[in-house]
Amino acid sequence: MQTTDTLDVLRMQIKNLRASGSRIGLVPTMGALHEGHLTLVRRARDACDHVVASIFVNPTQFGPNEDLDAYPRQLAEDAAMLEAEGCALLWAPKVREMYPDGFATSISVRGVSEDLCGKTRPGHFDGVATVVSKLFNQVRPDMAFFGEKDFQQLAVIRAMARDLDFTQPHADAIIGVPTVREADGLAMSSRNRYLSPEHRRAAAKLPQAMKVAIAKIEDGHDVAEELAAFEAELLNAGFGSVDYAELVDAVSLQPINALAGAPTRLLVAARIGGTRLIDNMAVLPRSAEKG
Ligand code: PAF
Repeated sequence: MQTTDTLDVLRMQIKNLRASGSRIGLVPTMGALHEGHLTLVRRARDACDHVVASIFVNPTQFGPNEDLDAYPRQLAEDAAMLEAEGCALLWAPKVREMYPDGFATSISVRGVSEDLCGKTRPGHFDGVATVVSKLFNQVRPDMAFFGEKDFQQLAVIRAMARDLDFTQPHADAIIGVPTVREADGLAMSSRNRYLSPEHRRAAAKLPQAMKVAIAKIEDGHDVAEELAAFEAELLNAGFGSVDYAELVDAVSLQPINALAGAPTRLLVAARIGGTRLIDNMAVLPRSAEKG
């Protein structure tokens, strides 16, 4: 696996990979890799000839009170994991290379980025959309792979690619990969390592309580009542607060208060011991087949 932190070198290496008309799959990450990221690499490897991964802890998507400095950085360990998965190229630019002096552009995707995490993390999705559009232009992949765990992020990136007529990748070639979970159901996240053993145990209540709420909603119970019961359950389990727990249309992310047949998702963000966890799951009416 080749590794570079220089854009000119990246472009040369991408040109070489493309020489024989090979298809390139991009896996953008912020490092601190876990099984969820490696699953993205495997999906990319299955669908494309070469996998390019990026590791860049993007400062513009962190708010002033968020964990930019504390965000785990372990480049050598991550590179070894990517190489073992058959990744061809690692793009790991420094902040100066990504945002040179005078950098002045920001991409803002209205609508889909405004509610849910957009409310509690103002500017976050502008930072994500801007850096991902740069990564797309730098690597020009045929396909790009993102975890469904960041469901709103995936919707924002797809909207950005569609609205700005990206062709490499085309919006349809932005692939959402199902969330990878720990044995107790907690969605894998680089932030799980911040949890104390006690909070880690309590965190498993999040997916468990989501499943209970979803089963009730699928059975036709009142959505608002079930979401209120869900929030109470989390607070009772040791969560400090629930930023949101919303049933939304899976494409527009607009809130809905009853199942009507369209793809629907329960999206949640909640805080425990100073760590903010997010999760989401599909919700199907009783008549629909479970996927
Ligand atoms: O999901 C992430 O790790 C980041 O938000 C991304 C997509 C790599 C952009 O910095």
